[in-house]
Amino acid sequence: MATYFAVIMITLILMSIYILGVLSESLYESEQVKLFAKANIISETLPSYMDVGKMGEVEGTVAQTLAGTGIRGVVVNTAYTVLFDTNKEADLLGKVFMRDIIQTALEGAQAHSLSKPEDEEHLMSVAVPVKNGDQVAGAVYLIESVADIDRTVGHIKINLYLFSALISVLVGILSLGMSCVVTSPVDEVIAVAKEISKGNFEKRIPVKGHNELAQMAQTLNFMCSELESLEENRKKFVSDVSHELKTPLATIKLISDSIVSTPDPDPAMIQEFLGDLSEEVDRLTRIVERLLTLTKLDAKKEEPVLTPVDFVVMLNAISRKLTPNAEARGIVLYTDFSVGTLEPIMLDYDKIWEAVYNITDNAIKYSPEGGFVKMSLEKGDGEVIVRVEDNGPGIPEAEKEHIFERFYRLDDSRARDTGGTGLGLAIAKEAVTMHGGKIEVSSEGEVGSIFSIHLPYKPHEQ
Ligand SMILES: Nc1ncnc2c1ncn2[C@@H]1O[C@H](COP(=O)(O)OP(=O)(O)O)[C@@H](O)[C@H]1O
Ligand SMILES: [Mg+2]
Repeated sequence: MATYFAVIMITLILMSIYILGVLSESLYESEQVKLFAKANIISETLPSYMDVGKMGEVEGTVAQTLAGTGIRGVVVNTAYTVLFDTNKEADLLGKVFMRDIIQTALEGAQAHSLSKPEDEEHLMSVAVPVKNGDQVAGAVYLIESVADIDRTVGHIKINLYLFSALISVLVGILSLGMSCVVTSPVDEVIAVAKEISKGNFEKRIPVKGHNELAQMAQTLNFMCSELESLEENRKKFVSDVSHELKTPLATIKLISDSIVSTPDPDPAMIQEFLGDLSEEVDRLTRIVERLLTLTKLDAKKEEPVLTPVDFVVMLNAISRKLTPNAEARGIVLYTDFSVGTLEPIMLDYDKIWEAVYNITDNAIKYSPEGGFVKMSLEKGDGEVIVRVEDNGPGIPEAEKEHIFERFYRLDDSRARDTGGTGLGLAIAKEAVTMHGGKIEVSSEGEVGSIFSIHLPYKPHEQ
């Protein structure tokens, strides 16, 4: 801002100096031309009278030529003797009058000079030869003050400086105004960016117009929203984790307190309490283990360890493992893996096992006693699909997205009773997504749900 102002000031001053220089030079030059013209007119009228005695006769002509001009005219002969002088007071008649330019004129050439004594009026003089045929008979010398020109230039100088000052002030005001218009939105962006860096994500920049600045504001606002939702998720996650851990811890505390406060505990009661304690510890372990799994998946630190997996063998193993659970609840677990030849699929065995296991386990857990669960396999276009179908309560349309969120449970108490942590589906989704697959849920009201796990399958061409 200050530099901008200084540049304008310096430019204006330099311009003024240049204009003044050119102006005074051209004014001096035109005055000089005028003086030469007059000197030449006079010199033309002189030759025939260059006699000292006859000079009086031309006095009228010379005086008339210079009348009212303030120019002093002097005529000398070749011996530098003054023949005539319009300034009678100087009393130079008949005396020798020497000047450099008169010498040049007597040598046959025109000459001029400009004397600029300090603190005095500047004087301009010219001298021209008076010719009698080819012979130089004398010289006409004219001298005048150029104070008028100096005054005019001085006047213009003051005006120019005033004008420059005015322009500078105007430019100053204008640039200040401009800086308000241009810098204030930038300042706003900077202010918001500073707030963000302090962790204050609720701030938004007002978006005005469609220029680059507006686009930047939009981008920054978008970033803010993303950060805000990330921050919200983080807070929610931390509070969910604390909540989840608090419940088993509170139970453990309650059980241990009641053992401690019983004076003479019955060994059978202690046995029972210790059993309960062990269960709660198991639950805590499960939560912590699953959290660790999720954190690892989240950090994207873990790449899936791909090995060729015989998928049908894996699915059969899962169903065998879960059959006792199903039987315990009087649920029939069907399987139908007849899809013809299925080449080994490149999978991270543990992760996909965990995903399919959890989804089937859910189907068994959330189905009513005496219900059924069906696991089936299908070959699709470049993919294999595992379907897990049950006749449980189903999942309401509005909840379909949420059940994959961490700690999300439709029926909190029932899910807790079944030993659920609310993390199973979140882990399953991460595991399948990292393989390039997806999980879909379809459920029609209260007539059960179907979970479909899609995994990429590219059989070798032979
Ligand atoms: N087959 C299903 N039928 C009905 N509800 C289900 C089914 N599978 C999952 N859910 C709901 O989704 C929630 C999240 O599942 P999940 O992440 O595996 O957690 P949980 O540890 O409770 O099993 C469950 O608590 C349950 O409410
Ligand atoms: Mg589960």
